[in-house]
Amino acid sequence: MGIHFGVDYYPEHWPHERWETDAKLMQEMGVQVVRMAEFSWFKMEPEEGLFQFEWLEEAVALLDRYGIKTILGTPTAAPPAWIIEQNPEIQPIDRQGRRRHFGGRHHDCQSNATYREHICRFVTAMSQRFADNSGVIGWQIDNELGNSHGDLCMCDSCKGRFQQWLWEKYGTIEHLNETWGTAFWSQGYNRFSQISTPLITAVGENPSAMLDWKCFCSDLIVDFAKWQADIIRKYCPNHFITHNYMCFDDKVNYYDLGELLDFVSNDIYPAGHWQQQPHQPENELAASHDVVRSYKKMPFWMMEQQSGMAGWEIMGRALEPGQMSAWAMQSVAHGADAIVFFRWRTCAMGTEQYWHGILGHSGNPGRIFREAKALIHRFSQYMDDFEGSMPCPQAAIVHNFRQNYAFQIQPHHPELTYIGQLQKYYKAFYDKKIPVDFVQETDDLSKYQLVVAPLQYLMTPELEQHYIDYVAQGGNLVLTMRTGVKDATNLCMINRELPGRLGELCGIEVPEYDCLLQTKGGVLYGKKEYEIEKWCDIITLIDARQLAEYSTGFYQGTPAITENNYEWGKVWYVGTEPGEELLEELVDYFAKQSKVETLGTAPAGVELMTREDKEHRWLFVINHTNEEMVYNLHDTYIMLEGEKEQFLKPYEIQLFWKNIS
Ligand code: GLA
Ligand code: ZN
Repeated sequence: MGIHFGVDYYPEHWPHERWETDAKLMQEMGVQVVRMAEFSWFKMEPEEGLFQFEWLEEAVALLDRYGIKTILGTPTAAPPAWIIEQNPEIQPIDRQGRRRHFGGRHHDCQSNATYREHICRFVTAMSQRFADNSGVIGWQIDNELGNSHGDLCMCDSCKGRFQQWLWEKYGTIEHLNETWGTAFWSQGYNRFSQISTPLITAVGENPSAMLDWKCFCSDLIVDFAKWQADIIRKYCPNHFITHNYMCFDDKVNYYDLGELLDFVSNDIYPAGHWQQQPHQPENELAASHDVVRSYKKMPFWMMEQQSGMAGWEIMGRALEPGQMSAWAMQSVAHGADAIVFFRWRTCAMGTEQYWHGILGHSGNPGRIFREAKALIHRFSQYMDDFEGSMPCPQAAIVHNFRQNYAFQIQPHHPELTYIGQLQKYYKAFYDKKIPVDFVQETDDLSKYQLVVAPLQYLMTPELEQHYIDYVAQGGNLVLTMRTGVKDATNLCMINRELPGRLGELCGIEVPEYDCLLQTKGGVLYGKKEYEIEKWCDIITLIDARQLAEYSTGFYQGTPAITENNYEWGKVWYVGTEPGEELLEELVDYFAKQSKVETLGTAPAGVELMTREDKEHRWLFVINHTNEEMVYNLHDTYIMLEGEKEQFLKPYEIQLFWKNIS
């Protein structure tokens, strides 16, 4: 497409006279695309059926004259006051049964038929109006679907739809009663119409019901997006459709949502005020990019890349000179074909007055503008070559929304999270400069030399077979604690020892376990003792060999980590959560055993990553720190950009190249 840099722009926040100055400055910076209008419903339809798109057409045309194309957002995350006045029932209900009211955003119920009609009317008019506008290239549906909808919506419309969804899934109420295990606490239902959305209970919840609820919510959001996508596809067949994801966010299954889209986009704010540290660690950002790439297994766009201090009521740290560029190129290194910075100019009004952009309130180009301009002018020339190329990791980590939901419902240990566990394994690879793909467990795993599948808690016979086949055919697999515990409906499996059939693969049984509540434990690996946390599976060896043993607990001296050869492959079972130090050792061992290569050696804060097409491999070296760094590559590359190979200045980005045809 040849479009690689842009900004999120809100002309409606600024006087009309300013627009041309903005366009000129954008052009000077190298902006090729803007996203507009995703919160401007009132401005486009101030009264029902009164469409006022002229201002937007004017902005699109003006920008187009400066060589800047437009992505339009549908404004359905912020229905205007007149809709709410007319149809207050479209405001969502939270788990306490309270209505969430107008005054912020996301005050919408996504199942509500009346709201769907408003959307149909509006999106039809908008897409008809812009279908043949030469300045418009594509659409973003809504904005960050799932954001602020954490525990929504409990209304009667959602209740009816949930009942319908359950009926389609289970057919009979007896089947549902059985699969939900409603014999417990007298929860049996006579008919589907008795089933509620999960309003707050006196105490406790049914884990199977909650898993269905979370999957229902995801399906509802996908359906909500499809409602709009179908309209846009009908009227704008030449435009692309995307959506701005939120990394690992889990409200909507991003793999499912991706099926509606031409490509996936993502939003990232590394230095948000909610971060525990000045900014989110680079390994976590890298993991986000990698999972976003996995949602459609293709390059993605960054629809909101942080360009200034982030804040609503509280603010995060200011970005150091070079930091924004390093983060932007990190996105590119992991598969972004375009970087759209949020936002063009810091807004003077509303909730996001302190969510800073490329320009400050003054509107004068300053430090950030100069940095963005330099970045774009330096790297634009390569972006066409990178477009479409992909990282090609030899190792993969399995990611699945349902496993995540199941651990949200029952975390086991107060600090155990599914995504946290994935991130922890990921970091061990990242620190070793080993690129990783995220995959869904049902994907073809055979192209990876090493697959790590943490917390395979919900298990099906098909998935057991899939893992067995992968290993039998020569794959190297890491399974962990809490594997094969439950069936797909979140009921515990019975009449077998853990981890079920995968026990044959691993050569072990897990008859007992221990939760390390308010304590940590230890293992002996090699000759050294290492810390472990959260959980210990108590393992009986059948065919496997012990790799590490517990040094704490009544099961001291029994296996904690095992290794088993199975046909042509190898499988490791990690029966605990290794501390960081142990995990580094283990991943080193797993990678070596699986012949997975590292890109080089470098201290923490220096990132190495590659993308390739049929002929080229590009290597990105990024210094995410404000200090000078040295690194070493494990292969020979030609330097494309950068000062001096092996040496990095603070926040320096270096590019290399190699022919692989
Ligand atoms: C999100 C949204 C934007 C904006 C930013 C900053 O990522 O998509 O509309 O609200 O956060 O808060
Ligand atoms: Zn609702």
